[in-house]
Amino acid sequence: MSARPLTILGIETSCDETAAAVVRGHPDGVREILSDLVLSQFDAHRPYGGVVPEIAARAHIMSLDGMIAAAIDQAGCGWQGLDGVAATAGPGLIGGVMVGLVTGKAIAAARNIPLIGVNHLEGHALSMRLVQPVAFPYLLLLVSGGHCQLLEVRGVGDYARLGGSLDDAAGEAFDKTAKLLGLGFPGGPAVELAAKGGNAARFALPRPMLGRAGCDFSFSGLKTAVRHMAAALPEMKDQDRADMAASFQAAVADVLVDRCRHAMAQFRDGHGALPEPVLVVAGGVAANQMLRGALAALCAQQGFTLAAPQLRLCTDNAAMIGWAGIERLALGLSDPLDISARARWPLDR
Ligand code: KG4
Ligand code: ZN
Repeated sequence: MSARPLTILGIETSCDETAAAVVRGHPDGVREILSDLVLSQFDAHRPYGGVVPEIAARAHIMSLDGMIAAAIDQAGCGWQGLDGVAATAGPGLIGGVMVGLVTGKAIAAARNIPLIGVNHLEGHALSMRLVQPVAFPYLLLLVSGGHCQLLEVRGVGDYARLGGSLDDAAGEAFDKTAKLLGLGFPGGPAVELAAKGGNAARFALPRPMLGRAGCDFSFSGLKTAVRHMAAALPEMKDQDRADMAASFQAAVADVLVDRCRHAMAQFRDGHGALPEPVLVVAGGVAANQMLRGALAALCAQQGFTLAAPQLRLCTDNAAMIGWAGIERLALGLSDPLDISARARWPLDR
């Protein structure tokens, strides 16, 4: 951490959440979220059953200015209290990313403060360090709507990918399953809620990649199996929905746990002497309580500590972007005002 407190405005617009936050990092390690505002566009996208990029970009334009003003107001630091501005520069829906990044550039230019163009995935990857000072290196399961990866986090900007999804991301599978079952949008929370009253043993769904060597995932076969089983039912009743949601969620958890077990073995091989290895789970799907429980059991069995941010830091937010900005700025890292927005931007090189 730097020798003085750093106060950063974070801006997040890479998908369907318009978010602005002010976070502060102190030299003694204390972290503060001074404001953390998220405006979800669920209602705008709900009729389409998924995120429509053009609608998302327009919605960010409509509300971002007001969100930023409110975040600064709530933080009580004033514009003059900002040491920098961190905006998501990718990966994501390019129209939305551009809205947030251009706004960040304008603020940096007007206030003469550094701009940090943050990789959205790095925001998720470091989100746990906003809560507590988890030491590098740690193992990371990053599970969101667009990404499903196992990474070794060695430091800020230093990631090694152990595995990833060969097709759909885990969150995408939740969203598609919810759509198939008529559970609504966004899918993850809807499937989790429906699954609470369901029997996870009723439908024998496949566990793609389970037991295979390595740390890769695959979810498209699972989604197809849900579709076939749903089509085979004479009529979809609420109990069928609940049972299918529970069976699907259990299959996803089994696969994620199995892949994490492999990643833990690989991580241990690389860092045998680490006394207390940590598994961090981040991204929107990490909000799932059943998955958290399954990962906690795996960690207990494998001698790892599970670290998971609170729910609102799992799904997209600007506090994690601001925090990644603090981590970078503390290392003397910032970006020129001509950096480009990127639709694709892998974390590892
Ligand atoms: O990290 P995030 O907010 O956005 C991306 O960067 O993609 O993740 C959103 C994804 C969506 O697919 C959503 O359905 C899923 O996270 N999600 C969940 C839960 N809450 C959100 N999946 C399972 N259980 C949940 N409780
Ligand atoms: Zn995300």
